[in-house]
Amino acid sequence: MIAEDFKIDVSTLTRWFNISMPVTVLDVRGKSDREEWSIPGSIHADVYDKLKADDEHALDEVKLDERKPIVTVCAAGKMSLKAAEILRRKGFDAFSLEGGMKAWNYAWNTAEIVLHDVKIIQVRRSSKGCLSYIIGSGDEAIVIDASLDPQVYLDLVRTNGWSIKYVTDTHIHADYISRTGELARASMAKHLLIDKAEVNYPFTHVQDGERIQIGNTPIEILHTPGHTMESTSFRLADDAIFTGDTLFVDGVGRPDLKADYDEAIKRSKLLYSSLSRLLNLNTNTLVLPAHIATAVPFDGKLITESVGNLAKKLDVLRLSEDEFVKYTTSRIPPTPPNYRIIASLNKQGSYEGHNPADLEAGANRCAIA
Ligand SMILES: [Fe+2]
Repeated sequence: MIAEDFKIDVSTLTRWFNISMPVTVLDVRGKSDREEWSIPGSIHADVYDKLKADDEHALDEVKLDERKPIVTVCAAGKMSLKAAEILRRKGFDAFSLEGGMKAWNYAWNTAEIVLHDVKIIQVRRSSKGCLSYIIGSGDEAIVIDASLDPQVYLDLVRTNGWSIKYVTDTHIHADYISRTGELARASMAKHLLIDKAEVNYPFTHVQDGERIQIGNTPIEILHTPGHTMESTSFRLADDAIFTGDTLFVDGVGRPDLKADYDEAIKRSKLLYSSLSRLLNLNTNTLVLPAHIATAVPFDGKLITESVGNLAKKLDVLRLSEDEFVKYTTSRIPPTPPNYRIIASLNKQGSYEGHNPADLEAGANRCAIA
């Protein structure tokens, strides 16, 4: 909804993107904030300090197309409002994104694929690149790695005529608050986790090699430790493998979170053998990861690669175990902000008293590229 004071909310901008409406998104944050995370297709003007100083000429150098509406964005929606006001005075059709990137953190879109009699919906948080999945077969579905309000999944499932039989996480996430427990309660679905998971809430245990059934479709559980000790992949015959943060389309998981150096080496070796197991799958199997390192565009294109393509594309997958351990432990990226608290809340299964938007702001850092 567009307010009289020229603010636009996240759901309106999402709708504009979904209908491919021409719009210029102008990011007015500082350079380092911009590098951390951004809106796909947005342009950047490094004018934060000028806006803060109420400089009416802050945007004079920025080239903008006057035929398109302009949405200005900052961290929380204050400087962007100043920018929108300046642009309005210059005659542009400008709006400020309400709540800024903190609100945009929850903007999402979907992509779908049908494989035989199974439909997979990839639910993507655009800014953080968190990917969750709904796998539907017959009239049943499983939701993997829910990271958005449970209502998002409930609506998608209802639209497809499914009921949620199981919900699960590929691992104890450290970069966002899992909504899987809430979704289990809202849908009456069984909350599955691998028996290795060390959490403080009750769950239905599954083991490596076990199969669960969704409609007519069996899904095999694979214990793939390394990124975390309980990391799990879910295999849909030779069609698809849901790899969590073990294998991405642009890299592999990081083995060090919550680990000291010796532990990181141990995890790195486990990750190596888990990846070897995944690479032995049929080469046409589609890898569907839990994250992507970049913002997800509103293009409806599934983020995936076949096992065979990844084996060719990613040099890291062709290293010996020793080389792999050296490579992964020497390229550990900065730790995600608030990861300790997020991981401990996910272990508890409740985030009561905490605001996920405050804890989750910023890009995902689960991968080694
Ligand atoms: Fe992770």
